[in-house]
Amino acid sequence: MSPPELLADSRVLWRMLRGLPRGGSAAERLQAFYAPQAHRYDAFRSRLLHGREELLRRLPAAAGDVVIELGCGTGENLERLGGRIGGLRRLVLVDLCPALLEQARARAARHSHVEVIEADIARYRPPEPADCVYLSYALTMVEDWRAVIANAVAMLKPGGTLGVVDFYVSHARPAAGRLRHPAWERWLWRRWFAHDGVRLDPSHMARLAAALPDCRILERRGRIPYLPGMSAPYYLFIGRKRAEATVRERSRFGAS
Ligand SMILES: C[S@@+](CC[C@H](N)C(=O)[O-])C[C@H]1O[C@@H](n2cnc3c(N)ncnc32)[C@H](O)[C@@H]1O
Repeated sequence: MSPPELLADSRVLWRMLRGLPRGGSAAERLQAFYAPQAHRYDAFRSRLLHGREELLRRLPAAAGDVVIELGCGTGENLERLGGRIGGLRRLVLVDLCPALLEQARARAARHSHVEVIEADIARYRPPEPADCVYLSYALTMVEDWRAVIANAVAMLKPGGTLGVVDFYVSHARPAAGRLRHPAWERWLWRRWFAHDGVRLDPSHMARLAAALPDCRILERRGRIPYLPGMSAPYYLFIGRKRAEATVRERSRFGAS
């Protein structure tokens, strides 16, 4: 890391060292945490939040689709959708942090079919069901992550796809075919990330797979800036909702 880069990262590192504030509402805590580092968010997180390109590449978002990102931050994933953005019918970016949403709005201004919404992703309901919903490193930041998963699945059309990329640690006794991380690593990463309000929970992956059993899970590792030789585990989940809607799902969106 060069001295100019270290200097540019210093406010991000300082905020991360101080951790996510404990008091106030979720929106206030996020604002206090992210506002001082918002200008350097993308540059720093590009070295920390791995697998976002791969997730977006694997999502079957296609021309005419309605796509929703839950916990969009600065909206940088727009760039990762590349040329596919233009063909989408509607792209909705949802987040609760005003400082990051300001940057997402500036990015979205170039596209008339991209909407930026300030809302809690555990509760946000879109105006119409989506073909694709994705979360990149947002599920671990929400205390009621079960509600986020249920909400994401509920907003999908029958046959729609949910994509998630996030940090995790394995269970001590993981399901067959899944990786097992050693005890020291499970201990270290949970505590390391918890300081910044990121809750690594081995149950996330299992819950996602239970909600959408037609799925693929890829377990990976990514380097951590300023921790030479260290890499943290992350996963990609891509799950497809069954093709027939239940009566409850039909009535929720008024489909006939
Ligand atoms: C680590 S950032 C990831 C942002 C973006 N998805 C990315 O890949 O760069 C997590 C994001 O989740 C948002 N977030 C956390 N809790 C939220 C909630 N309850 N509702 C909406 N957004 C939330 C934060 O404001 C933040 O923008």
